[in-house]
Amino acid sequence: MNNANPVIPLFDLNYGQEEEEAVLRVLRSKWLTMGGEVEAFEQEFADFCGVRHALAVSSGTTALHLANIVADVMPGSEVICPSLTFAATANAIIYTGGIPVFADIASLSDWTISPEQIAKKITKDTKAIVVMHYGGFSCKMDEIIKIAQSHKLAVIEDAAHAPGSTYQGKKLGAIGDISCFSFFSNKNISTGEGGMICTNNDEYAERIKIIRSHGMTSGTVDRHRGHAFSYDITALGYNYRLDEIHAALGRVQLKKLEDGNRYRRLAASRYKTGLKKLASIKLPFGDRHAEANFHFFPVLLDESIDRQALMAYLRSVGIQTSIHYPPVHNFSFHRQYFKTQNMNQTEYIAGHELTLPLYVGIKDEQIDFIIETLNRYFRDI
Ligand SMILES: Cc1ncc(COP(=O)(O)O)c(C=O)c1O
Repeated sequence: MNNANPVIPLFDLNYGQEEEEAVLRVLRSKWLTMGGEVEAFEQEFADFCGVRHALAVSSGTTALHLANIVADVMPGSEVICPSLTFAATANAIIYTGGIPVFADIASLSDWTISPEQIAKKITKDTKAIVVMHYGGFSCKMDEIIKIAQSHKLAVIEDAAHAPGSTYQGKKLGAIGDISCFSFFSNKNISTGEGGMICTNNDEYAERIKIIRSHGMTSGTVDRHRGHAFSYDITALGYNYRLDEIHAALGRVQLKKLEDGNRYRRLAASRYKTGLKKLASIKLPFGDRHAEANFHFFPVLLDESIDRQALMAYLRSVGIQTSIHYPPVHNFSFHRQYFKTQNMNQTEYIAGHELTLPLYVGIKDEQIDFIIETLNRYFRDI
């Protein structure tokens, strides 16, 4: 392969005729928002995760905002969260007036939030803990739940990366008090934009239903079906609804999820076997392969490797890569929320992490080409 060959993208959609048919089904139904498709998607997602309630929303970010609202995060509340994440994890706290308190990761091989760091950062103002299952690998949920319970704090799972991953046999997103999924284009379930909130808490679910749709006590479909004639507004609400087209896409994608995750695990195994010989690369998360959905494939580069130069070289031979993540506490806007300096492990990983292409449909030859290219690069530098 060389420059003239097709690029191996970082991710690709797992879309086919089923998605086209689902969209057509909605268009022909002439009902576009919060109807039968959304209801069915919610029920199917709740059954899949093993939770009492799944509530569809317009994105993972709006899911996180609603989660913080129902966890009663308010101006001045502190919420402990990771920094090695996408900015939305912290932004959703800030939307409510809450203060993100960043905690370091567990270790240089487990890049999820550290329970010890969480425990150290709890104050009288702490209201909740937001965890993020990095790349679809579970946080240390037993320890985190224990800490949360002993301080009466809500646990919000940012499960944007995690549909189908498990922890001790339980689906991620079914362990904390409330969890938030994203269906953005690069996620394991992709609908373009979209999200889901899961919870076993009936009161949270009732509040979310109302707040996601302007605070109204009935929706358009209820009135259309004759179940309601008017509405009251009982809370400050938003328009965070999911529409029927995205829900129909989500239903098809959910059906493909387990097979897709299996495909990703096999591709990850091929990478792992091939990369073992490369001294310049380490793989995180040890032997937790079977539990993960491999949302992406992160590796840790040796300190001697110039990451920018490597990324540019890979790009020049048609391999797209990325970085997960620039730490949130270092962004110009978020620096105002960062007071302690104990983020050494987060900063180390952020400085040396590289994400390689992984998606349903990536071919063995493409993975082998990536491994060979890395081999050649490290040999020649
Ligand atoms: C960890 C994490 N949290 C939250 C989000 C926000 O999701 P969305 O893009 O659907 O708003 C994303 C996705 O992009 C994410 O990766």
